[in-house]
Amino acid sequence: MPPPAGFSDVKGWFWPADQLLFDWFLKRQEKFPEQAGDLLELGAYLGKSAIFTGGYLRPGEEFTVCDLFDSPAPDDPNSAEMDRSYSTLTRRGFEANYLAFHEELPTIVQAPTSVIASRLKPDSCRFIHVDASHLYEHVHGDIEAARELAGPDAIVAFDDFRAEHCPGVAAAVWGAVATMELKLICITGTKAYGTWGDAEPVRAELLEWLKSRTDLWHGVEEVAGAPLIRIDGKKAKAPAPPRPLRPVAPPERPAEPEPAAPVPVAASQGLLARVLGGRRRR
Ligand SMILES: C[S@@+](CC[C@H](N)C(=O)[O-])C[C@H]1O[C@@H](n2cnc3c(N)ncnc32)[C@H](O)[C@@H]1O
Repeated sequence: MPPPAGFSDVKGWFWPADQLLFDWFLKRQEKFPEQAGDLLELGAYLGKSAIFTGGYLRPGEEFTVCDLFDSPAPDDPNSAEMDRSYSTLTRRGFEANYLAFHEELPTIVQAPTSVIASRLKPDSCRFIHVDASHLYEHVHGDIEAARELAGPDAIVAFDDFRAEHCPGVAAAVWGAVATMELKLICITGTKAYGTWGDAEPVRAELLEWLKSRTDLWHGVEEVAGAPLIRIDGKKAKAPAPPRPLRPVAPPERPAEPEPAAPVPVAASQGLLARVLGGRRRR
Protein backbone atom coordinates (compact mmCIF):
# COMPACT_ATOMS: atom_id res chain seq x y z
CA MET A 1 0.00 0.00 0.00
CA PRO A 2 1.41 3.47 -0.81
CA PRO A 3 1.67 5.78 2.23
CA PRO A 4 -1.32 8.10 2.65
CA ALA A 5 -0.90 11.49 0.97
CA GLY A 6 -3.36 13.04 3.41
CA PHE A 7 -5.53 12.23 6.43
CA SER A 8 -8.51 11.54 4.18
CA ASP A 9 -6.56 8.64 2.60
CA VAL A 10 -6.44 6.78 5.94
CA LYS A 11 -9.33 4.33 6.15
CA GLY A 12 -11.38 4.27 9.34
CA TRP A 13 -14.48 5.43 11.13
CA PHE A 14 -13.81 8.82 12.63
CA TRP A 15 -16.19 11.53 11.52
CA PRO A 16 -15.93 15.35 11.63
CA ALA A 17 -18.19 15.83 14.70
CA ASP A 18 -16.03 13.43 16.71
CA GLN A 19 -12.83 14.99 15.40
CA LEU A 20 -14.15 18.32 16.71
CA LEU A 21 -14.98 16.81 20.10
CA PHE A 22 -11.66 14.97 20.46
CA ASP A 23 -9.99 18.28 19.62
CA TRP A 24 -12.13 20.17 22.14
CA PHE A 25 -11.63 17.67 25.02
CA LEU A 26 -7.91 17.20 24.40
CA LYS A 27 -7.22 20.93 24.02
CA ARG A 28 -9.25 21.69 27.13
CA GLN A 29 -6.98 19.37 29.12
CA GLU A 30 -4.02 21.53 28.10
CA LYS A 31 -5.50 24.30 30.27
CA PHE A 32 -5.23 22.04 33.34
CA PRO A 33 -1.62 20.99 33.91
CA GLU A 34 -2.80 18.86 36.83
CA GLN A 35 -4.66 16.76 34.28
CA ALA A 36 -1.43 15.48 32.71
CA GLY A 37 -1.59 11.81 31.85
CA ASP A 38 -1.30 9.27 29.12
CA LEU A 39 -3.49 8.62 26.09
CA LEU A 40 -4.96 5.21 25.31
CA GLU A 41 -6.84 3.80 22.36
CA LEU A 42 -8.46 0.36 22.45
CA GLY A 43 -9.02 -0.60 18.80
CA ALA A 44 -6.90 1.31 16.31
CA TYR A 45 -7.65 -0.40 12.95
CA LEU A 46 -5.54 1.43 10.33
CA GLY A 47 -4.86 4.40 12.57
CA LYS A 48 -7.41 7.04 11.64
CA SER A 49 -8.36 8.10 15.19
CA ALA A 50 -4.91 7.17 16.57
CA ILE A 51 -3.12 9.49 14.13
CA PHE A 52 -5.47 12.28 15.19
CA THR A 53 -5.16 11.57 18.93
CA GLY A 54 -1.37 11.24 18.76
CA GLY A 55 -1.18 14.91 17.77
CA TYR A 56 -2.18 15.91 21.34
CA LEU A 57 0.55 13.95 23.12
CA ARG A 58 2.58 16.19 25.43
CA PRO A 59 6.23 15.74 26.46
CA GLY A 60 6.63 13.03 29.06
CA GLU A 61 3.31 11.37 28.24
CA GLU A 62 2.78 8.02 26.56
CA PHE A 63 0.27 7.07 23.90
CA THR A 64 -0.67 3.38 23.88
CA VAL A 65 -2.80 1.63 21.29
CA CYS A 66 -4.09 -1.88 21.84
CA ASP A 67 -5.32 -3.93 18.90
CA LEU A 68 -5.25 -7.52 17.75
CA PHE A 69 -4.17 -6.39 14.26
CA ASP A 70 -3.38 -9.65 12.45
CA SER A 71 -3.36 -11.90 15.57
CA PRO A 72 -6.14 -14.39 16.24
CA ALA A 73 -9.13 -13.17 18.25
CA PRO A 74 -9.67 -14.63 21.74
CA ASP A 75 -13.07 -16.25 21.00
CA ASP A 76 -15.29 -17.31 18.09
CA PRO A 77 -17.74 -14.37 18.08
CA ASN A 78 -14.80 -11.93 18.18
CA SER A 79 -13.10 -13.92 15.40
CA ALA A 80 -16.25 -13.71 13.25
CA GLU A 81 -16.43 -9.97 13.95
CA MET A 82 -12.80 -9.57 12.83
CA ASP A 83 -13.38 -11.55 9.60
CA ARG A 84 -16.52 -9.55 8.83
CA SER A 85 -15.22 -6.07 9.45
CA TYR A 86 -11.42 -5.92 9.53
CA SER A 87 -10.18 -8.62 7.17
CA THR A 88 -7.63 -6.35 5.43
CA LEU A 89 -6.11 -5.06 8.68
CA THR A 90 -2.42 -5.56 9.35
CA ARG A 91 -0.11 -4.11 11.99
CA ARG A 92 2.21 -3.06 9.18
CA GLY A 93 -0.60 -1.07 7.56
CA PHE A 94 -1.25 0.71 10.86
CA GLU A 95 2.43 1.47 11.40
CA ALA A 96 2.98 2.79 7.87
CA ASN A 97 -0.05 5.08 8.18
CA TYR A 98 0.95 6.33 11.64
CA LEU A 99 4.54 7.05 10.61
CA ALA A 100 3.33 9.10 7.66
CA PHE A 101 2.08 11.66 10.23
CA HIS A 102 4.28 11.20 13.34
CA GLU A 103 8.01 10.69 13.83
CA GLU A 104 7.48 7.90 16.37
CA LEU A 105 5.02 5.06 16.77
CA PRO A 106 2.86 4.92 19.87
CA THR A 107 3.42 2.03 22.28
CA ILE A 108 1.65 -0.86 20.57
CA VAL A 109 0.06 -3.67 22.56
CA GLN A 110 -0.82 -6.30 19.97
CA ALA A 111 -3.16 -8.41 22.06
CA PRO A 112 -6.79 -8.68 23.13
CA THR A 113 -7.87 -5.62 25.08
CA SER A 114 -8.45 -7.90 28.09
CA VAL A 115 -4.69 -7.57 28.83
CA ILE A 116 -4.56 -3.78 28.89
CA ALA A 117 -5.26 -3.19 32.58
CA SER A 118 -2.29 -5.41 33.44
CA ARG A 119 0.05 -3.51 31.08
CA LEU A 120 -0.56 0.09 32.19
CA LYS A 121 -0.51 1.86 35.54
CA PRO A 122 -3.82 2.43 37.35
CA ASP A 123 -5.12 6.04 37.18
CA SER A 124 -2.54 6.93 34.50
CA CYS A 125 -4.63 8.00 31.51
CA ARG A 126 -6.28 11.35 30.80
CA PHE A 127 -8.01 10.31 27.56
CA ILE A 128 -9.22 6.83 26.58
CA HIS A 129 -10.93 5.86 23.33
CA VAL A 130 -12.85 2.59 23.61
CA ASP A 131 -13.25 1.33 20.03
CA ALA A 132 -12.15 -2.33 19.88
CA SER A 133 -14.59 -5.26 19.78
CA HIS A 134 -18.21 -4.13 19.68
CA LEU A 135 -19.49 -7.29 21.45
CA TYR A 136 -21.03 -6.86 24.90
CA GLU A 137 -18.63 -9.04 26.93
CA HIS A 138 -15.59 -7.32 25.43
CA VAL A 139 -16.92 -3.77 25.73
CA HIS A 140 -17.94 -4.44 29.33
CA GLY A 141 -14.37 -5.60 30.06
CA ASP A 142 -12.95 -2.57 28.23
CA ILE A 143 -15.08 -0.25 30.35
CA GLU A 144 -13.84 -1.94 33.54
CA ALA A 145 -10.26 -1.50 32.31
CA ALA A 146 -10.93 2.13 31.40
CA ARG A 147 -12.27 2.82 34.89
CA GLU A 148 -9.12 1.38 36.41
CA LEU A 149 -6.76 3.26 34.08
CA ALA A 150 -8.59 6.61 34.04
CA GLY A 151 -6.91 9.38 35.99
CA PRO A 152 -8.90 12.05 37.83
CA ASP A 153 -11.29 13.80 35.40
CA ALA A 154 -10.13 11.62 32.48
CA ILE A 155 -12.37 11.65 29.42
CA VAL A 156 -13.49 8.34 27.98
CA ALA A 157 -14.98 8.13 24.47
CA PHE A 158 -17.07 5.10 23.48
CA ASP A 159 -17.54 4.32 19.81
CA ASP A 160 -20.78 3.06 18.25
CA PHE A 161 -22.68 3.23 21.52
CA ARG A 162 -26.09 3.25 19.82
CA ALA A 163 -25.77 1.58 16.41
CA GLU A 164 -28.17 -1.12 15.26
CA HIS A 165 -25.33 -3.47 14.27
CA CYS A 166 -23.77 -3.52 17.76
CA PRO A 167 -26.37 -3.48 20.55
CA GLY A 168 -23.76 -4.85 22.97
CA VAL A 169 -21.97 -1.49 23.06
CA ALA A 170 -25.16 0.33 24.07
CA ALA A 171 -25.89 -2.28 26.73
CA ALA A 172 -22.36 -2.04 28.14
CA VAL A 173 -22.17 1.79 28.12
CA TRP A 174 -25.61 2.40 29.66
CA GLY A 175 -24.97 -0.49 32.03
CA ALA A 176 -21.85 1.34 33.23
CA VAL A 177 -23.94 4.49 33.75
CA ALA A 178 -26.41 2.48 35.84
CA THR A 179 -23.98 0.39 37.86
CA MET A 180 -20.41 1.73 37.54
CA GLU A 181 -20.93 5.44 38.22
CA LEU A 182 -19.94 6.44 34.68
CA LYS A 183 -21.20 9.96 33.94
CA LEU A 184 -21.97 10.71 30.34
CA ILE A 185 -21.24 14.26 29.23
CA CYS A 186 -22.42 14.27 25.63
CA ILE A 187 -23.26 12.08 22.67
CA THR A 188 -22.88 12.44 18.92
CA GLY A 189 -24.42 10.11 16.35
CA THR A 190 -21.44 7.81 16.74
CA LYS A 191 -19.75 8.28 20.11
CA ALA A 192 -20.59 8.86 23.76
CA TYR A 193 -18.19 10.88 25.94
CA GLY A 194 -18.06 10.39 29.68
CA THR A 195 -15.96 10.60 32.80
CA TRP A 196 -15.58 9.13 36.24
CA GLY A 197 -14.52 12.58 37.41
CA ASP A 198 -16.56 15.75 37.81
CA ALA A 199 -18.79 16.04 34.74
CA GLU A 200 -20.43 19.36 35.65
CA PRO A 201 -17.68 21.88 34.78
CA VAL A 202 -16.91 20.08 31.51
CA ARG A 203 -20.58 20.08 30.52
CA ALA A 204 -20.91 23.79 31.29
CA GLU A 205 -17.83 24.68 29.20
CA LEU A 206 -18.88 22.41 26.39
CA LEU A 207 -22.30 24.09 26.26
CA GLU A 208 -20.62 27.51 26.01
CA TRP A 209 -18.46 26.31 23.12
CA LEU A 210 -21.41 24.66 21.36
CA LYS A 211 -23.27 28.00 21.39
CA SER A 212 -20.53 29.38 19.17
CA ARG A 213 -20.74 26.55 16.62
CA THR A 214 -23.16 27.13 13.79
CA ASP A 215 -22.26 23.75 12.25
CA LEU A 216 -23.31 21.67 15.30
CA TRP A 217 -26.89 21.43 16.57
CA HIS A 218 -27.19 20.66 20.27
CA GLY A 219 -29.81 20.10 22.92
CA VAL A 220 -29.83 18.90 26.52
CA GLU A 221 -31.97 16.08 27.86
CA GLU A 222 -32.16 14.69 31.38
CA VAL A 223 -31.18 11.01 31.19
CA ALA A 224 -30.80 8.66 34.17
CA GLY A 225 -30.69 11.58 36.59
CA ALA A 226 -28.13 13.77 34.80
CA PRO A 227 -28.15 16.27 31.92
CA LEU A 228 -26.90 14.75 28.67
CA ILE A 229 -25.80 17.00 25.80
CA ARG A 230 -27.00 15.70 22.44
CA ILE A 231 -24.98 16.85 19.45
CA ASP A 232 -26.08 16.51 15.86
CA GLY A 233 -22.95 16.78 13.77
CA LYS A 234 -24.26 16.06 10.29
CA LYS A 235 -23.05 19.48 9.11
CA ALA A 236 -19.90 19.52 11.25
CA LYS A 237 -16.84 21.18 9.75
CA ALA A 238 -13.85 19.03 10.69
CA PRO A 239 -10.88 20.74 12.37
CA ALA A 240 -7.61 21.08 10.44
CA PRO A 241 -6.54 17.49 9.73
CA PRO A 242 -3.18 16.04 10.80
CA ARG A 243 -0.64 16.75 8.07
CA PRO A 244 1.72 14.15 6.62
CA LEU A 245 5.37 14.69 7.61
CA ARG A 246 6.63 14.37 4.05
CA PRO A 247 4.88 15.08 0.77
CA VAL A 248 4.01 11.87 -1.02
CA ALA A 249 4.79 11.61 -4.73
CA PRO A 250 1.66 10.82 -6.74
CA PRO A 251 1.59 7.14 -7.73
CA GLU A 252 3.25 6.41 -11.07
CA ARG A 253 0.68 5.83 -13.76
CA PRO A 254 1.28 2.83 -16.03
CA ALA A 255 2.61 3.90 -19.45
CA GLU A 256 -0.21 4.61 -21.92
CA PRO A 257 -0.17 2.15 -24.84
CA GLU A 258 1.05 3.71 -28.11
CA PRO A 259 -1.96 4.84 -30.16
CA ALA A 260 -2.42 2.66 -33.27
CA ALA A 261 -1.04 4.29 -36.42
CA PRO A 262 -3.93 5.70 -38.50
CA VAL A 263 -4.67 3.67 -41.63
CA PRO A 264 -4.37 5.91 -44.74
CA VAL A 265 -7.75 6.52 -46.37
CA ALA A 266 -6.73 5.05 -49.71
CA ALA A 267 -5.42 1.89 -48.05
CA SER A 268 -8.55 1.52 -45.95
CA GLN A 269 -10.71 1.94 -49.07
CA GLY A 270 -8.65 -0.75 -50.81
CA LEU A 271 -9.12 -3.05 -47.81
CA LEU A 272 -12.87 -2.42 -47.83
CA ALA A 273 -13.07 -3.16 -51.53
CA ARG A 274 -11.19 -6.41 -51.04
CA VAL A 275 -13.49 -7.47 -48.18
CA LEU A 276 -16.63 -6.59 -50.14
CA GLY A 277 -15.22 -8.14 -53.26
CA GLY A 278 -14.48 -11.31 -51.34
CA ARG A 279 -18.03 -11.39 -50.03
CA ARG A 280 -19.51 -10.85 -53.48
CA ARG A 281 -17.57 -13.75 -54.85
CA ARG A 282 -19.29 -16.16 -52.39
C1 LIG B 1 -13.79 -0.13 14.75
S1 LIG B 1 -12.14 -0.63 14.57
C2 LIG B 1 -11.25 0.71 15.21
C3 LIG B 1 -11.41 1.94 14.37
C4 LIG B 1 -10.42 3.05 14.65
N1 LIG B 1 -10.43 3.48 16.03
C5 LIG B 1 -10.72 4.20 13.72
O1 LIG B 1 -11.19 5.24 14.17
O2 LIG B 1 -10.52 4.06 12.53
C6 LIG B 1 -11.99 -1.86 15.78
C7 LIG B 1 -10.61 -2.42 15.97
O3 LIG B 1 -10.65 -3.23 17.13
C8 LIG B 1 -9.82 -4.35 16.95
N2 LIG B 1 -10.32 -5.42 17.85
C9 LIG B 1 -11.43 -6.16 17.73
N3 LIG B 1 -11.55 -7.00 18.77
C10 LIG B 1 -10.47 -6.79 19.56
C11 LIG B 1 -10.02 -7.35 20.79
N4 LIG B 1 -10.70 -8.31 21.43
N5 LIG B 1 -8.86 -6.89 21.33
C12 LIG B 1 -8.13 -5.93 20.68
N6 LIG B 1 -8.53 -5.36 19.53
C13 LIG B 1 -9.68 -5.78 18.97
C14 LIG B 1 -9.91 -4.67 15.46
O4 LIG B 1 -8.72 -5.33 15.06
C15 LIG B 1 -10.08 -3.30 14.84
O5 LIG B 1 -8.85 -2.79 14.41
